[in-house]
Amino acid sequence: MENSSSNSIRFLLNDLLYKIDFSDNKSQIKPTTTLLNFLRTQTNLKSVKEGCAEGDCGACTVVMGETEHNEIHYTPVNSCLIFLPMINGKQIITTEYLSEKKDDKQILHPIQSALAETYGTQCGYCTPGILMTMFAIYKNYSDPDEKTIKKLLSGNLCRCTGYLPMLEAVRKSSKNREDKFSQKEKATIEILKNIKNHSTISIKQNSYSYHIPCSLNDALDIYNNNPEAIIINGATDTAIRQTKNNEKLFNIIDISHIEELKYFRKDNDNYYIGAGLCIQKLLGFLKDTITSLYDTLEYFGSWQIRNLATIGGNVSTASPIGDTLPVLISLKSSVKLKNITKERIINIEDFIIDYRKTSLKKDELLTEVIIPKTPDNNIIKSYKVSKRKELDISTVSTCFNLSLGANNVINEIIITYGGMAKIPCRAKSTEKFLTGKKWCKENIKEAGKILFNEFEPISDARAEAMTRKIICRNLLTKFWSENQN
Ligand SMILES: Cc1cc2nc3c(=O)[nH]c(=O)nc-3n(C[C@H](O)[C@H](O)[C@H](O)COP(=O)(O)OP(=O)(O)OC[C@H]3O[C@@H](n4cnc5c(N)ncnc54)[C@H](O)[C@@H]3O)c2cc1C
Ligand code: FES
Ligand code: FES
Repeated sequence: MENSSSNSIRFLLNDLLYKIDFSDNKSQIKPTTTLLNFLRTQTNLKSVKEGCAEGDCGACTVVMGETEHNEIHYTPVNSCLIFLPMINGKQIITTEYLSEKKDDKQILHPIQSALAETYGTQCGYCTPGILMTMFAIYKNYSDPDEKTIKKLLSGNLCRCTGYLPMLEAVRKSSKNREDKFSQKEKATIEILKNIKNHSTISIKQNSYSYHIPCSLNDALDIYNNNPEAIIINGATDTAIRQTKNNEKLFNIIDISHIEELKYFRKDNDNYYIGAGLCIQKLLGFLKDTITSLYDTLEYFGSWQIRNLATIGGNVSTASPIGDTLPVLISLKSSVKLKNITKERIINIEDFIIDYRKTSLKKDELLTEVIIPKTPDNNIIKSYKVSKRKELDISTVSTCFNLSLGANNVINEIIITYGGMAKIPCRAKSTEKFLTGKKWCKENIKEAGKILFNEFEPISDARAEAMTRKIICRNLLTKFWSENQN
């Protein structure tokens, strides 16, 4: 393992360099203190608000700046889901730092002026979070269309103003990306380069240990010696154990700084996705490659969540209502699992073994998702049904992978559902019935009857069991009606 360095982290908070040393056992600041709590209790930056503490409202949105190819990449994130060590080497920007002083006058940032001019705020509780998302839009998009703006703002709730003035404010302001941040970019890059840690950090404080490996080997080595540790990547699932269930997470290995796990590659046979790639970056690769996965992930969480959540984290939760698994199963994907001595590649169906349980061994990490290329004439389609279109977990989701032969006869069909059982499941009886039959209305009707009885879903806050069964059957009909020839 590379030399572990100090008990401390460094980051840029607006334009101030911060170092947090965790050596003081009496300190209020723990390694699992969230960025939101740190900002509100240890600094004067109280514009950042807490609404839900679970990633749903956006009141706590801050912008994270990271160096990439000699530029700073700005992304909005939910500070309520971020443990302090996750921001090591990064810049955190809050609304306090948006405006600037010139000749004794406070000059608003263009997005602040635009929001004021469109009367885009009333009680103001959501406003700092809205502004930070608007700032990230300003820095990343030039003249975005309405659909894009709505999508990007969907992680910010406002209970009183209504969204039209905010849409107008984004439209008004996002025409150029010049501001004081662009003028200071070179200097900021230098600072960020200087504070970026190139060796693994292991923090110890009382009963807490928090490791930030900077390479996969280091991570595997630490995990090998510490198999009871909790692995986190984006922490969008795990942080809620603390913020909502009041669990104390004493022993963490945070793999979010491992650059070698963040990739998308392809060869003649497969696509290879590094487990540490966040959903937002993954989307950028999928539009022209794996459209069925793109269609589902387009509606994954919010912009803030997609910037943190990783594909490895999503697959490893083994959630019956997670977005990626039904698609990955229907595409016959596999996963690469590694420990310090060996690696193994297993079919993703064998990876998920029970409700939120995987076949990962105690010292193993999921390092890669492998998706085989499908023949061009296969018809592949995914659907996500949820109560809200944006920022909602699915009620039922599915992916169909259909191969038709001569005379419209079904060579193979793979049908996987999420939300219908305790794990994402293939509809194997329906698949068997359809294989070798004609792709026609009568057979789909008969298949629908089998499908209706194939699963025994539960009733919960999202839907009654019967509703789920009906949605499940209707999705097959929808797939057929969209793809009859
Ligand atoms: C507001 C909100 C909205 C959400 N919306 C959606 C949604 O629309 N669709 C959806 O599917 N999910 C959604 N989620 C759930 C969550 O964001 C996803 O499951 C996400 O992909 C988890 O990734 P992560 O990197 O944040 O995981 P983490 O929280 O870091 O980890 C999740 C689990 O995976 C394990 N793990 C992580 N990486 C690895 C690895 N490489 N090897 C081994 N184990 C690993 C961890 O130990 C942990 O058990 C939402 C969550 C929130 C808070
Ligand atoms: S407080 Fe609601 S998203 Fe963080
Ligand atoms: S202005 Fe009141 S919540 Fe948005």
